[in-house]
Amino acid sequence: MCGIVGYVGPRDCSDVLVSALTKLEYRGYDSAGIAVFENGKIEVAKSKGRLTDLVAKMEREGKPVGHAGIGHTRWATHGEPSDINSHPHSGRRVTIVHNGIIENYKDIKKFLIENDRTEFLSDTDTEVVAQLLDFYYDGNPVRCIRKVLHEIRGSFALGIVFADRPETVYAVRCESPLIVGQGHGEAFIASDVPAIIKYTKNYFLLEYGEIAVLKNGLASFCDLHGRMVEKELKTADFDEDSAEKGGYPHFMLKEIHEQPTAVKTTITPRIEGGLPNLTECGITPEALREFNNIFIVACGTAMHAGMVGKYVIEKLARVSVTVDIASEFRYRDPLIQKNDLVIIISQSGETADSKAVLNLVKGTGAKTLAIVNVKGSSIAREADMVIYTHAGPEIAVASTKAYMVQLSVIYLLAFEMAYAKGTIDEEECQKLTLELVRVPEVIQQTIDRIENVCRYVSTKLITADSLLYIGRGLDYALSMEGSLKLKEISYIHSESYAAGELKHGTISLITEGMPVIAVATQNSLFEKTLSNIKEVKARGAMAIVICDLKSEIDLDSANYIIRIPKISEMLMPMVATVPMQLLAYYTSVNKGNDVDKPRNLAKSVTVE
Ligand code: M6R
Repeated sequence: MCGIVGYVGPRDCSDVLVSALTKLEYRGYDSAGIAVFENGKIEVAKSKGRLTDLVAKMEREGKPVGHAGIGHTRWATHGEPSDINSHPHSGRRVTIVHNGIIENYKDIKKFLIENDRTEFLSDTDTEVVAQLLDFYYDGNPVRCIRKVLHEIRGSFALGIVFADRPETVYAVRCESPLIVGQGHGEAFIASDVPAIIKYTKNYFLLEYGEIAVLKNGLASFCDLHGRMVEKELKTADFDEDSAEKGGYPHFMLKEIHEQPTAVKTTITPRIEGGLPNLTECGITPEALREFNNIFIVACGTAMHAGMVGKYVIEKLARVSVTVDIASEFRYRDPLIQKNDLVIIISQSGETADSKAVLNLVKGTGAKTLAIVNVKGSSIAREADMVIYTHAGPEIAVASTKAYMVQLSVIYLLAFEMAYAKGTIDEEECQKLTLELVRVPEVIQQTIDRIENVCRYVSTKLITADSLLYIGRGLDYALSMEGSLKLKEISYIHSESYAAGELKHGTISLITEGMPVIAVATQNSLFEKTLSNIKEVKARGAMAIVICDLKSEIDLDSANYIIRIPKISEMLMPMVATVPMQLLAYYTSVNKGNDVDKPRNLAKSVTVE
């Protein structure tokens, strides 16, 4: 959460910082600020609200003009969103921006107060670090940062400027992600590569405890002990267009439309001779044969992809799969054994709770497999094996294409595991793989066919206070994601329910006109789900049904029917996801909400 940036170079620093922060707003957007060296002096501009509020303020009051500085977009943790709590925060000679949390900030504040440092203006943990840096500052910035690193605890990344070191930016990373961009005669820091892609594709990945110094347009590095470090320069595998809306009104809609390509790019290199081949990711059939139990651990949407994984892996490979929310799993003392496999799914690869699971598994003898979208992210680097999804940057807070590619990888893994374990034969494995290869085309047909239908049906949802998503089997797993998508961006209360469970309590919630969205794509369960649809409709619900083109259902049983192309039952989640995404998207648009930046949320949850 929170995005930090920094710049040293010939361009107008304020403009670069604002432009880079625009690309990081998905990480938090309740306030923003910058600090720039102007004529050798640090000038700060900050404001509560969106980045546009900061820009408007700088237009009114003037922007700092210079060539080196730091910037921040905030997702509040310590202290409400306000001008005072906005970053940057300053000590007497030090100004910083901060992403993450400082766990022992109260102890440090007490220590500072006991040592006559009492000038605290904000409620933030960040200001305490600024003051501590100032307290120890003896004219040697790197030594001072190293000293402070030994005293603060938590997960954080910092951008720092010292008043007596003009035109120089310092940065340090402990857990929270930070990259250092290197252009021609200019250098950057950023929480994520898309922030600087407009200026350079070349970047260094800062490791835990490393300090970067940006001076004279060049970046240099040292470790926690002050030793110089030579780092490998990486090149981003996407360009500026991927991080732009490309003519779409919102990133979310663009990302929904990118799904056919994203799935194709993810699965194609992992299929050989019509069969899945994950050896390039460190996964061999021999290893897959050995696993006794599987745990899939993740948060939010990624966890919902895991729910689909449970149904598919258990059905095909006959291995027991437990799906858990990372924030629960890490504290419930799970029974992990030597021959188990723990799969961590994460778009960002930086989610704090999911990351913590890797530490938990260490020493148990179990293996960890990460399914991750962001290259070089912490989870990807720390897991024993990694399958990268190739969705490209996902900017909208509401995840769409990342979920879709997570599903595609889970299918490949399930097919390969089932074949390795002998629960399906080569012919069956080839048949399933071939069907998966067709999926991108079917997703495209689905978008083309139903986008307008979903736009229309969404107009029926906007006045609802509450709704239910129901389904059975894979449709139930899928409805969890449909429900999350809808609630996070439309702000309509929504729950997903196993359709067969309604009669055990929840059906009492049904009142006249309450929307119930039934996902009914599993032919083997269709009749049963249809009974549940009739039951809710008979009690006044507005029944909206997502089913395939051939399903036998008419408008006596449902108020609205969204028909999608049919593929094999097992793969239907990848098609049925599309109407759920579009319903959420258009409901949010019709309500006038900020689709890409829903209230209170941030894309990357790097704090617990
Ligand atoms: O980056 P991750 O996949 O680990 O993020 C996990 C969740 O925070 C995330 O999936 C979240 O639920 C979605 N943005 C919701 O659309």
